[in-house]
Amino acid sequence: MNINIEKNSPIADLDTGFAEEVIKKIRKYVNDRSKMAGHPLRYYNFAMGCQMNFHDSEKISGMLSLMGYEETRDESEADFIIYNTCTVRENADQKVYGKLGYLKHYKAKNPNLIIALCGCMMQQPEVIQKIKTSYRQVDIVFGTFNLHKLPELVLEHLESGSQIIDIWEKHEGIYEDLPIIRENPYKASVNIMYGCNNFCSYCIVPYVRGRERSRNPEDILKEIRHLADRGIKEVMLLGQNVNSYGKNLETKVTFPELLRMANEVEGIERIRFMTSHPKDLSHELIMAMKECKKVCNYIHLPVQSGSSRILEKMNRHYTKESYTALIEEIRKEIPDILISTDIIVGFPGETDEDIEDTIDVIKKCGFCNAFTFIYSKRTGTPAAAIEDKTPESLKKERFQKVLKELNETVGIIHSQFVGKTLRVVPEEVNKQDETLLTGRSDNNLLVHFKGDPVLIGREVPVLIKESKTFYLLGEALI
Ligand code: 5AD
Ligand code: SF4
Repeated sequence: MNINIEKNSPIADLDTGFAEEVIKKIRKYVNDRSKMAGHPLRYYNFAMGCQMNFHDSEKISGMLSLMGYEETRDESEADFIIYNTCTVRENADQKVYGKLGYLKHYKAKNPNLIIALCGCMMQQPEVIQKIKTSYRQVDIVFGTFNLHKLPELVLEHLESGSQIIDIWEKHEGIYEDLPIIRENPYKASVNIMYGCNNFCSYCIVPYVRGRERSRNPEDILKEIRHLADRGIKEVMLLGQNVNSYGKNLETKVTFPELLRMANEVEGIERIRFMTSHPKDLSHELIMAMKECKKVCNYIHLPVQSGSSRILEKMNRHYTKESYTALIEEIRKEIPDILISTDIIVGFPGETDEDIEDTIDVIKKCGFCNAFTFIYSKRTGTPAAAIEDKTPESLKKERFQKVLKELNETVGIIHSQFVGKTLRVVPEEVNKQDETLLTGRSDNNLLVHFKGDPVLIGREVPVLIKESKTFYLLGEALI
């Protein structure tokens, strides 16, 4: 892994609540312990869920490194284990409880092991109650609003030896300047905003990530410039709904304006963003995408359902017709754009007719990829109160039907690239076949091709030879 701590300024200068004293004390503990153990103390940092969480975990790695820990990919040898949890669907919660069970054994082997939990799942009082009563092996718990508190919580735990739980109910400002260890030396995520105000009726995110707040454009651009200086070529601008970027800023800056500014940063070659809500995707954004050379020809635009009736119950503020019209408008301006989506099957009260509408939208929109989920009831959301008599077996059947349709569409879209040349940035050696490199085209297609690992991180023209529904095989033209 490429260690790339972005902020090495004196700790006392950081505007994050880190006191130099706190870090010094932890470093001393880590140092003493590692001398006793005969090896550096190691952290295992595991993120679940969305890109936002993965990026938060890069900040956690940054803070743990600052504290003197080194990274390990082997959980069983770790001295500090942290899970950054997701709670969008119930199975994510179950996964965490399952993992906590076997962490008990690690703790028995290594009594100095520190176990920490954070992220969206921790923002729910019933989860905290359960951890307090049934998971005493957990040492530190914090939530989505106080990531920057990690060093202080570690010290508090070291000094008291007790379980430390610190959950905030809302955000208290945006914390710039956290140290970050980025996973990837040529592409990086950049938060542009946090939280969500949309309250889609099935979704827990607004409750666990709070209200929308945007970072200042100057801070975002400073970060992008800094990344470019360090050799980063591709940035992913992150927000739960990037289209409402800037609404709470003193000086109003829209997302399309921000894109145009990012497009000017020298050294950056590709700009992506996610996620866009269809309800406020403006013509201005389409034009910015069209006119900015570096903005990729790709957009993720979750439709969730093709049925206007269900969309209304989901509180999505658009209809089947307005969504398909929006796709047409985007394609009219940017004909070769690829579009991916999210779909939920099994929303309470969904009927066969509604599913037919979803299938119809899939047919009409030609998605290049789709993330499909079975509806998961989240306590506290409005949809959880809707009575649902649909048997699980029927939901699964419908889910398969939707998947079948998607596979066909996605397959057709991919096959259209056979014989064409795509600009691909290889990101890694293929895990199954070491002679292949794996990367993404500008329009976000997954492409494998034979090549030397020295090409990793550089744009390569690749002639596409074969299409395999969700990926392409090609030959480098160099
Ligand atoms: N059940 C199933 N899928 C959900 N998503 C969000 N909430 C739920 C839920 N309760 C999906 C949506 C969203 C994606 C990130 O997760 O499709 O776009
Ligand atoms: Fe959830 Fe809707 Fe906000 Fe996306 S836009 S995070 S689905 S509430």
